[in-house]
Amino acid sequence: PLLSECFNLHDFEAVARRTMKKTAWGYYSSAADDEITMRENHSAYHRIWFRPQILVDVHHIDLSTTMLGTKVSAPFYVTATALGKLGHPEGEVVLTRAAATHNVIQMIPTLASCSFDELVDAAQGDQVQWLQLYVNKDRAITQRIVQNAERRGCKGLFITVDAPQLGRREKDMRLKFVDPGSNVQKGTKTDTSQGAARAISTFIDPSLSWADIPWFKSITKMPIILKGVQRVEDVLKAVDAGVQGVVLSNHGGRQLDFARSGIEILAETMPVLREQGLDDKIDVFVDGGVRRGTDILKAMCLGAKGVGIGRPFLYAMSTYGQAGVERAMQLLKDEMEMDMRLIGCNRIEDLHPGLLDTRGLFVH
Ligand code: FNR
Repeated sequence: PLLSECFNLHDFEAVARRTMKKTAWGYYSSAADDEITMRENHSAYHRIWFRPQILVDVHHIDLSTTMLGTKVSAPFYVTATALGKLGHPEGEVVLTRAAATHNVIQMIPTLASCSFDELVDAAQGDQVQWLQLYVNKDRAITQRIVQNAERRGCKGLFITVDAPQLGRREKDMRLKFVDPGSNVQKGTKTDTSQGAARAISTFIDPSLSWADIPWFKSITKMPIILKGVQRVEDVLKAVDAGVQGVVLSNHGGRQLDFARSGIEILAETMPVLREQGLDDKIDVFVDGGVRRGTDILKAMCLGAKGVGIGRPFLYAMSTYGQAGVERAMQLLKDEMEMDMRLIGCNRIEDLHPGLLDTRGLFVH
């Protein structure tokens, strides 16, 4: 189909399923075990309903907001996804360019197919990028990556904390994997018999713990955000550890199957933070299963500072390149603008929990 015939983010996935190389589709679309968590990432949003307010002048709608001090055009960002060249010969620079056009932030993955420097060089003007970090057993390597990112202007360090070992993604494991030239860290043996994900992740340090956080704070001035937090108790620990943020996430369902959805954890977390007067002490982001403008608005109503989106942009990139990713972003913005009108809100800051009915959210 023509790009103009893609009317929502699901459409890109349908085209990707039919046209992508099997190995690439297997790696992007797969999730852990029985993929129950990946399904739940969508279902959880379907258990939240709106309570719109009427007769508000919604002539003018402003979707812009601020994430970690950066003004962005809308409350979503491109989250880190590894191995961009599986889907598109140019890799993640395609996402960089689309993010620039739309003034949204891109999180650069440690395991990008393009090198970190290529992705920073592809940025335009004052375009903001963050770094997603997998922590290497060799901390000297990690220190070099972090300090290079800061020197090159990255505005946030997202340390992935939900992947001491990569989850079993069987769809991916069944397919013979040929590395498209990933930026695998030196000194790493790759074993391709376990699928793409496991092949490139053997350097990740499973001993990473809370005790390492002060060290990260000592080597960088970038804000530190823990990506993959799954319970309010750990959000409170993150506040105590003095990090600037958390991403409530289950890694797109690719790690622990039967992990809860980020949006449910958000609904559990924000009331506790507010009750303890800590809601301005930490920025809370969420990702997983976001496909519609309504999904984004639900997260913002519940108190998220921003929402990460992974697979849809990969599918758009793999099928239609930069134009595809730009259209996916525009569709989300169009949906959000209309949804804001129908909810009765002009600005992102005006969204609040009273606009939602979450009674069904915790009933599984
Ligand atoms: C990911 N994700 C991820 N996260 C991370 O911290 N480091 C990584 O290298 C990757 N790689 C990766 C590859 C692919 C193909 C996918 C789909 C996901 C997880 C990602 O950042 C995010 O948490 C989820 O993708 C969000 O869910 P959706 O939007 O894909 O449903």
